[in-house]
Amino acid sequence: MAENLVARLDACVSTIRAKAGGFQPKLGVILGSGLGAFADSLERAVAIDYRELPDFPTSSVHGHAGRLVLGYRGAVPVVAMQGRVHFYEGYAPWQVAFPARVLCRLGVKHLTVTNAAGGINPGFSVGDLMAITDHINLAGYNPLIGPNEEALGPRFPDMSKAYDPDARAVLDQVAAAEGVTLRQGVYVSLAGPSYETPAEIRMLRTLGGDAVGMSTVPEVIVASHMGVKVTGISCITNLAAGISQQKLSHDEVSETANRVKGTFTNLLGAFLDAVAPTV
Ligand code: HPA
Repeated sequence: MAENLVARLDACVSTIRAKAGGFQPKLGVILGSGLGAFADSLERAVAIDYRELPDFPTSSVHGHAGRLVLGYRGAVPVVAMQGRVHFYEGYAPWQVAFPARVLCRLGVKHLTVTNAAGGINPGFSVGDLMAITDHINLAGYNPLIGPNEEALGPRFPDMSKAYDPDARAVLDQVAAAEGVTLRQGVYVSLAGPSYETPAEIRMLRTLGGDAVGMSTVPEVIVASHMGVKVTGISCITNLAAGISQQKLSHDEVSETANRVKGTFTNLLGAFLDAVAPTV
């Protein structure tokens, strides 16, 4: 755990407010691998490079731009992270979760987390979008390990509704109205960076997983800690190891995310419009 986490968060929040003219976002969005295009649709936007923000980790992964974009969807102020960091890049758990904490500390009322994931559920196809109903943390760490910051949240946060059911109902309605097939399922997080073996995927299926990835869970844990409700959307960029005979590659992940980005961007935008008045 970082020393002086609250002071570090506040320094970051002050820097953002100074650069964005006191902007007060209502909604936060974290955009996963290849899904960053959504941020470009925000109006009257100010973009801040992560390198300009104290303690903000910067990603080395292709497909992660590394910019905070603050702008509007109609009248609703939104802050979007174009790219995130992962544990496998060598960051400490608190650093992986730090940006999500910054969004919560900025005062967002709802956080939408997105990712690219491998499909484990045999009913899923490449290019499907999945509402995350719950997660299984097999990444081997928890960003809350260490002394608890009571100013941020409780020692033992409840995770029984980590993915807000009311917001998910809104997401379901919006998907139906937009004509987008939306799968539902449990996201399993592993540390990576190697993809899973077929035996590991069979195990994850037995454990109740529908999709697998290397992100998202630390962000959802700190948002729960700070009392911020969450919606999660996975883009099934590939079938998980052993489900298809194909080799897994980051290129396939990026290509699928790129192919689906129009549908994804429309769904996410319509969801934010619909959820904003409810939070
Ligand atoms: N496994 C883990 N992470 C991933 C995958 C996968 O198959 N696809 C995209 N991210």
